[in-house]
Formats: sequence, C-alpha cells, structure tokens
Amino acid sequence: MIKLGVNVDHIATIRQARKDTIPSVIDAALICEKAGADIITVHLREDRRHIQDSDVYDLKKSIKTKLNLEMSATDEIIKVALNVKPDFVCIVPEKRQELTTEGGLDVKKNKKILANCVEKLKKVGVLVSMFIEADTEQILACSQIGADAIEIHTGRYAKFYKEDGRSSSNFKEEFKKILQASQVATKNKLLLKAGHGLDYGNIKHISKVPNLKEFNIGFSIIAKSVFTGLRTAVKDMKKLINKG
Ligand code: PXP
Repeated sequence: MIKLGVNVDHIATIRQARKDTIPSVIDAALICEKAGADIITVHLREDRRHIQDSDVYDLKKSIKTKLNLEMSATDEIIKVALNVKPDFVCIVPEKRQELTTEGGLDVKKNKKILANCVEKLKKVGVLVSMFIEADTEQILACSQIGADAIEIHTGRYAKFYKEDGRSSSNFKEEFKKILQASQVATKNKLLLKAGHGLDYGNIKHISKVPNLKEFNIGFSIIAKSVFTGLRTAVKDMKKLINKG
C-alpha cells in the first residue's frame, strides 16, 4: 500500500488571504485523517505565505496520524523543526518569488550544509527526506549525507503528462528516470516518496512505480474539495493511488 500524505497548505492560503482564523488548518487535517490520509503535510515557508509557525505546533498536538514538515535547510526553520519534532521532515529548495517549489534540491552541491541539517534532525528522532529530481547522482548524494528517504519531484512528470501526453518522448523519458530512481533508491536503502503536481488523472500511472511508499499531494486535492468537500476529495485520491 502506498501511503497518502495530504498537503493542507492551501487551506492556510485561503485563511491568509484575509488573515482570519477560518478555514481552520487543524479542522481540515482532521477531516483528511478521517477520510483516509496517512500523513498530514505542511510546508513552513520562510516568507510564511500560508502555513504559520503556530499551525505546525497545533498540528503536532492535534493530529493522530503522522506530521510531515516540508522546509528549507535554513537555521531559522531548522530551529522550529527541532522544537516541534515532526515525524518526518522533507528538505526542499526555496526561492522567495516562486509560486510553488520549482525543481529539486541540489544535494550534490550542498552536501556539507545538508549533512549537518540531517544530523541535527535525526538526533531528535525525525526521519529526513530530500526533495530531488529523479537523478542517480543526487540519490547517491542523499545516501552519502545520511538521509532516510528521498521524495522525487514529479513536477516534470505532471507537466509532460498534461502538455505532451503519455505517448510523448518527453513523458516516456521522464518516467524512465523515475523508474531508474526507484531502483537506485531501493539499492541504497532509501525510502521512496513522490510528490508535486500529482492529480486525479496522472496518479494512476505513477502508482505503478515499484517500491513507492508515499505520495504527498496538495493542490489537486484542495482544488477538488471546493466542489466535492474535503472528505470526498481525499477518499477519491486514496482509492486511486492503490489501483495502479
Ligand atoms: N511534496 C513537496 C516536497 C512539495 O514541496 C509540495 C508542494 O508544496 C508537494 C509535495 C505537493 O505538491 P502539490 O501541491 O502540487 O500537490
């Protein structure tokens, strides 16, 4: 069974549009859990554009499943993570002006900083994942710095699926890279996760990748929930991910 992490950032995006207290991120997370989410995921961005520090602390206290914190490897955010002690941390690259996390981390180039961050988090019992492109050298670098897991950035997979179709060479090439990444990760004892741009159309195909243990999905679920309610949106995704 592949686990589903539901990213509830965009519940906070709506709330922050008015800097109000509704919709509640905690209530949303509890509904996701009841509907079958295995993990609640949030990204505490440096600019705090959606999730706030208090959300992370409140989620840790309130949810019954696991908390996955996506974050950049900066001292300020590491400090929050060391205090909260989420179940998992996923280190992501972050640029202030981007709409969402564009591209994977360059672990190879930033080994020293990232190894230091992994060590600090693992010391307090947090399992650490690296958000990377499906690239062998990056996966090997993750293994060398002591990461527990990798999350493959599926942005390119999703883009090619939507714009070029499943029979395009772009799509096939990207999918092949993901299959290769699965082999390399497994050989190096890294837990395999995937996320970004996954939706109700493209999820079935990627669910076939061997050894995938977890998806983290946000935007498509929250977008669908506007029409169906969050419960149905999560249930429908959960059904699809184990049909591949
Ligand atoms: N995984 C990671 C590491 C992310 O940074 C994001 C975006 O915050 C997601 C998964 C979810 O992406 P999406 O919102 O496109 O489903």
